[in-house]
Amino acid sequence: MICSHLLSLIYLAGLSIQSGLLPPNKRAPCTVLAGGYEAIDDAIAINTALKDCGNGGTIVLPSDQVYSIRSPIDFAQCHDCDVQLEGELLFSNDQSLWANQSAFISFDGVDGAKFRSLTGKGLVDGNAKTYYQRPRDHVSSQPALVPIVASSDVYIDGLVLRNPPLQFFRVDGGSSMIHFSNLKLTVENQWWQSIWTDGESIGFQFRNSTHITLESVDVDFRSNYADYHVGACVGIDYITSDIYINNVNCNNTDTGVLLQFGSLGGGTPAADDQWAKNIFISNYTANSKYNTGFMNMLEFDYSKIWNVTYDGVKIIGGNQLTNTNCYVVSNGITDACSCGHLGGLEHLQANFTDIRFKNYSGETSKPALACSCHSTCDFHFDGWSI
Ligand SMILES: *[C@@H]1O[C@H](CO)[C@@H](O)[C@H](O)[C@H]1NC(C)=O
Ligand SMILES: *[C@@H]1O[C@H](CO)[C@@H](O)[C@H](O)[C@H]1NC(C)=O
Ligand SMILES: *[C@@H]1O[C@H](CO)[C@@H](O)[C@H](O)[C@H]1NC(C)=O
Ligand SMILES: *[C@@H]1O[C@H](CO)[C@@H](O)[C@H](O)[C@H]1NC(C)=O
Ligand SMILES: *[C@@H]1O[C@H](CO)[C@@H](O)[C@H](O)[C@H]1NC(C)=O
Ligand SMILES: *[C@@H]1O[C@H](CO)[C@@H](O)[C@H](O)[C@H]1NC(C)=O
Ligand SMILES: *[C@@H]1O[C@H](CO)[C@@H](O)[C@H](O)[C@H]1NC(C)=O
Repeated sequence: MICSHLLSLIYLAGLSIQSGLLPPNKRAPCTVLAGGYEAIDDAIAINTALKDCGNGGTIVLPSDQVYSIRSPIDFAQCHDCDVQLEGELLFSNDQSLWANQSAFISFDGVDGAKFRSLTGKGLVDGNAKTYYQRPRDHVSSQPALVPIVASSDVYIDGLVLRNPPLQFFRVDGGSSMIHFSNLKLTVENQWWQSIWTDGESIGFQFRNSTHITLESVDVDFRSNYADYHVGACVGIDYITSDIYINNVNCNNTDTGVLLQFGSLGGGTPAADDQWAKNIFISNYTANSKYNTGFMNMLEFDYSKIWNVTYDGVKIIGGNQLTNTNCYVVSNGITDACSCGHLGGLEHLQANFTDIRFKNYSGETSKPALACSCHSTCDFHFDGWSI
């Protein structure tokens, strides 16, 4: 009650300033204050602010505030809004609240939104460290922290994000013009058994989307077992084009910046949809088990990939590759899947055109590529210092 009363006062103040002194496109920002108790769901006040001020307005979540979040924050009401998170969104660790939700922070059909921190201190805490230690007897149905679906012109900048139950960001459903910059993603205390956690703790998954920029992003995932790598840093999935990735650091992840068709979950699309093109990755510092290249799941037999360039990859992690799957190229080394031996992979006929691996340094091995199964491989290597 006190909370909503305060809010209406703030809105009234904002509105009177708006009608009195400022032109409509310069109205006062709406400030949301936290209710102050864990039992209060501050998402309700934030969603109300998005509704009231989301049409071209600015919503400020100030730095001294910790928001208790027990239901999804929904950007559907945002039309060119600017949400400035300087405080902390603390999601409830009662996972039953999230099990049947589609998002923690939802961008679905949003056209024009900024979600950012001007101070670089805005924190999104998924608060799922205890969830990582659950028994792995069923598949988790927890949603991604921030799925961006069928949306365009979304700008996410300056935030610190940590410990979502599963993945951080997924861009999907025909989204375009999605920009990520100056983000820090961490996972602490993830369970160490890779068969379970490889497909969890996903930093970014891009699928069925175009024109995505990822710039100056740090990803560091830790397990509760020394030196065990978990999760995926950046996975570029099918139906993707014009992806630009620069200044990225992937630390301790199982997979780094890779084309990953189907291996981060999701169904199997029609053969005609198994493609990606126009991808540029530069200044990438890699310390993953599998640092660069392509990975596919069974039934992704018709992948067509063209115009992909890695330029400037610094390999920190000297992890030896072990061939447990059909990783066509990883860290410059081919693990040619043994056609016919792994069951189903004999159908693989990926076609790679104009794929460039440039300026690799650090712990690299001489590239010795074979082309898996019935694939065609147009690979180029330049400037490797071994
Ligand atoms: C989620 O939905 C399923 C099926 O609709 C239901 O059985 C389950 O109890 C729900 N879980 C929670 C935590 O609400
Ligand atoms: C891709 O997104 C579009 C929406 O723009 C949708 O109609 C289509 O079914 C999606 N395709 C796949 C394979 O997900
Ligand atoms: C490369 O990226 C790192 C961050 O990963 C950054 O500190 C450095 O300035 C970048 N170098 C260039 C030349 O942009
Ligand atoms: C990467 O992780 C290691 C621990 O595995 C840590 O010592 C190092 O500082 C991290 N580096 C970066 C750049 O985050
Ligand atoms: C290849 O992809 C880059 C983006 O990485 C793009 O700028 C360039 O135009 C593409 N080349 C062709 C021939 O499409
Ligand atoms: C891949 O290339 C081969 C040889 O050029 C061709 O026969 C095959 O149809 C291509 N596959 C796809 C999925 O385009
Ligand atoms: C890669 O090396 C070429 C020369 O081989 C150089 O022109 C280019 O600037 C380098 N790119 C990076 C990102 O270091």
